[in-house]
Amino acid sequence: MMASHKPLSDSSVNGEWAITGPTVFGRDGELEQLRKRFAARRSFLFHGPAGVGKTLLLQLVLPEFANVLYSPRNPTPQALCRHLAGSLLELKHPVLTKACLSGMASLQAKTAVSVKGLVRDALRDSKFMVIVDHLVRPSQALAASIRELMLNWSVPVVAVSRSAHMEDVGFVLPLFPDRAERFALRNFDPEIARRFAAGCAEREGLTAENLDQFLDRVVEYSDGNPGGVLQMIRMAKVPKYAHENQIKITPLYIDYRIAMVSQ
Ligand SMILES: Nc1ncnc2c1ncn2[C@@H]1O[C@H](COP(=O)(O)OP(=O)(O)OP(=O)(O)O)[C@@H](O)[C@H]1O
Ligand SMILES: [Mg+2]
Repeated sequence: MMASHKPLSDSSVNGEWAITGPTVFGRDGELEQLRKRFAARRSFLFHGPAGVGKTLLLQLVLPEFANVLYSPRNPTPQALCRHLAGSLLELKHPVLTKACLSGMASLQAKTAVSVKGLVRDALRDSKFMVIVDHLVRPSQALAASIRELMLNWSVPVVAVSRSAHMEDVGFVLPLFPDRAERFALRNFDPEIARRFAAGCAEREGLTAENLDQFLDRVVEYSDGNPGGVLQMIRMAKVPKYAHENQIKITPLYIDYRIAMVSQ
């Protein structure tokens, strides 16, 4: 469901976004959906463009649920496994504590094969759920590891992919064949994005004679992407993008695009 079909939280109505208010703007419906999915403990693919707020929403919801392991960076299956092992050790899981008498140092000294064995013993048929964030064009090997977690070890997995559509989900996509197993987070509609932009500008203390015009452009250029809105508003505070109390919109946008491309 699109953000505009849902009410914003009270403190974000009218574009007023108090300093002390919620740190998430206009995502009440999506947060509720995430909570339901976590409560159901079933695997799903969480996808959306860069900067749309996937990590932000996850970070907000995760602490509300027990037995959830979060892996922030997953370039290889080994990296995923080591993140999971590290988290289990921090949680003092008996399998890990028994095998790692000197804590993290012991874990680091172990081979990839033995780390994987420990993670399997701890997770197989357990109550744990795993979030695999920041999947960017995941390799076949990484997708195979996620498959192993889900199918062989019966661990629900939330795979988080940076993709507005399905182009970058790649090898992970076949793991979530049903539409109900996919949850897309979309950019804000223009009207919501404009309110978000006004709230951000206020929070950041941004003032300029052409502020309204600038915020209209920010919404258009970012396509309603909250991360993009926030980034351009922060750039507007840099002195080189200001002249006689006017924001130099075009140079700022060009530099924003260059930064996006090199991301
Ligand atoms: N609804 C929102 N309210 C307030 N801030 C937001 C919102 N959505 C995103 N942001 C901010 O935008 C920035 C980008 O968000 P985030 O990192 O969660 O995006 P992402 O979807 O995880 O992107 P990536 O694919 O690059 O990991 C962050 O600074 C985040 O706090
Ligand atoms: Mg992210």
